[in-house]
This record gives sequence, C-alpha cells and structure tokens, in this order.
Amino acid sequence: MSFNKVAIIGGGVLGAQIGLMCAYTGHDTTFWLRSESSIGRTKPKIERYSAMMLSALEKSKALIGNPMGAYVYPKGLIRNWGRINADQIDELIDMAKKNFSELIHIELDMAKAVADADIVIETMSEDPKAKIEVYTALKDLLPEKAILCTNSSTMVPSAFEKYTGRPEKYLALHFANTIWKNNTAEIMGHPGTDPEIFKQVVSFAEEINMVPLELHKEQPGYILNTMLVPFLGAAQALWANEVADPETIDKTWMLATGAPVGPFRILDVVGLDTAYNISRMKPDVNDESSLSYKISKLLKEKIDKGETGINAGKGFYTY
Ligand SMILES: NC(=O)c1ccc[n+]([C@@H]2O[C@H](COP(=O)([O-])OP(=O)(O)OC[C@H]3O[C@@H](n4cnc5c(N)ncnc54)[C@H](O)[C@@H]3O)[C@@H](O)[C@H]2O)c1
Repeated sequence: MSFNKVAIIGGGVLGAQIGLMCAYTGHDTTFWLRSESSIGRTKPKIERYSAMMLSALEKSKALIGNPMGAYVYPKGLIRNWGRINADQIDELIDMAKKNFSELIHIELDMAKAVADADIVIETMSEDPKAKIEVYTALKDLLPEKAILCTNSSTMVPSAFEKYTGRPEKYLALHFANTIWKNNTAEIMGHPGTDPEIFKQVVSFAEEINMVPLELHKEQPGYILNTMLVPFLGAAQALWANEVADPETIDKTWMLATGAPVGPFRILDVVGLDTAYNISRMKPDVNDESSLSYKISKLLKEKIDKGETGINAGKGFYTY
C-alpha cells in the first residue's frame, strides 16, 4: 500500500462513506470535524453506513452462484467476486469490523488530524467560502508530501487551487453516493495539477477499491452528471409534454438499450427534491408557457404529496 494515512475533512453523507472505505481497505483514517456538535452528527452516520456495509457483505453470501450476483454484489467491498466463497466473505466481515474499530479516528484539532497524512480528502458542503477558509487554514498544516483532493460535485478545482498553497498537489477525486456499491472515482485535475500526482491519486482510488475514471480536462459535472442531467431532463420533458407516461418512457429505454432501469427509476433514487432544485435553476422556470415551468410544477405536486422517491417509499414508483 503506498498510502497509509488519510484525513477526511467533513463527516457528512459522503465523508462518512469515504472514511469507512479507506478504513475498510486498511488505511489509518482521521476525520477532522469543526466542533463537538459535528461529532454528534458524524458518529451516527459512521455507525449507520458501517452497518449498511456489513449487511451488504452478509447478504452477498446468498448471491453466490446466482448469475444476477455479478451485477448486484457490493463492488467496493469484494474485489474478486468470481472466486469468492462464503467463508471468505465471513473473513471480510471480521476484517471490516476490526478495521472500523481500530483505524477510524475523529479529531477536532486540524493540525493533529492532518499530521503525517499522505492524502487529505475535502468533502464539506458545497459552500465555496467555507471551503476557501478551510483550505487557507490547512495550507500551513499539511505535511509536504500530502495530496489534497476535493469531492465537490459542482465546483471545479481551478476555482480553489490558489488557496491551497499546493496547486500541483490539488485535484478532484469525486465519489458517488453508496460508495461501497457504486464504486466510481472520477479523477479530474486543473491545468496546474502535476501529472505524477494525478497518477498517484488513480492508484489511491484503486487501493480503496474504487474504479478510477480519468478526466483529461476540467468539466463541470464530471463525466457522469454531464450525461445524466440532460438525459433525465429529456425524459422529464417527454412526461411534462404529455408525450408518454413515466412507465412507458422507462420501458422504452430499458427494452431498446438493455439498461436495467430507466430515467424515472433513476429519478426516484436521486430524489425528486434534487430534480426539483435542478429544474428551478433554469432561467425560464417562472415563465408559465415554458417547459421548465411545467416540469418544476409537476415535480412540486409530487413532492407536496410526499412522493419524493425511493427513500420516501414512493416517487414515480411505489417501493
Ligand atoms: N451527497 C452526495 O450524493 C454527493 C455525491 C458526490 C459528491 N458529493 C460532494 O461531497 C461534499 C459533501 O457532500 P455531503 O452530501 O456529504 O454533504 P453533508 O451536508 O452530508 O456533509 C457536509 C459536511 O461538511 C461539514 N461542514 C460544513 N461546513 C463546514 C465548515 N465550515 N467547516 C468544516 N466542516 C464543515 C459538515 O459538518 C458535514 O460534516 C460536497 O462537496 C458534495 O458536492 C456529494
């Protein structure tokens, strides 16, 4: 293993998951949190996601020998699905419990949290001012060797590199929610990122059981959202224009492309509130004759009925 110590800045939904994956794969992992109350919010998240990861391992035993298993096993937790047996999964469960209890630390003192860190992953809320404040504070505390990554979904690294004091060692390493199943790691530098550092982050992503996806230049939305957002928008337009209903639109996509789910099933996973917030960003959303207005109105009607997606038990489908 070339990376030993990892520091995670921010212990929210993604921070907790990233930290757990780092510990699962044997990395000494320290969360830096800003206050006691942050600790009170992060600890239950770590517990919840570690339980979900252990349960995913436990359940995967029943998938051994099932041809569908290869599609649904937790890819971030099991490296060689083709050759795995139930005893080996039990060993992974034991290892996970040990690593979660021994390798995860929480620290309020930023200097202590990043001391000797090989890699620091910033995964705070999307507030540029707060990110700049933290980068500025980190600048003089990071050891020379430390690589600094951001998990920001909506902001590109060139927006922040000048505040880091180490632009050549700063880049984006972007994870997906439920990282232990959806183990993508989009890696995106800014023009000043050292190509050698980029390669090291690719290796780190592999070390923590992610599949590295390399971007050759900056792209807001990375690869996935650059495709997904317009795709979901086109599906919603068909629905809002009353061309077809969500089930038929999904069925068309699935039958014609072989995809396991269609856009409305994906919207249920993303959450209708997120789709609504995206629809509200369209410049013509207040123009009652516009498509954006129609989409946002329809989504709002569903949200008001509590139909916000899979987490609520109902969205476009019932769960
Ligand atoms: N949620 C997702 O599905 C997802 C997916 C990929 C990437 N991301 C990215 O990950 C990052 C975090 O998202 P999240 O969903 O985990 O958010 P979250 O709201 O669950 O967590 C944010 C964390 O940042 C901390 N934080 C906020 N302001 C801070 C400050 N001033 N100083 C120190 N800590 C501060 C909070 O205490 C919290 O621990 C964002 O950049 C987001 O774009 C999120």
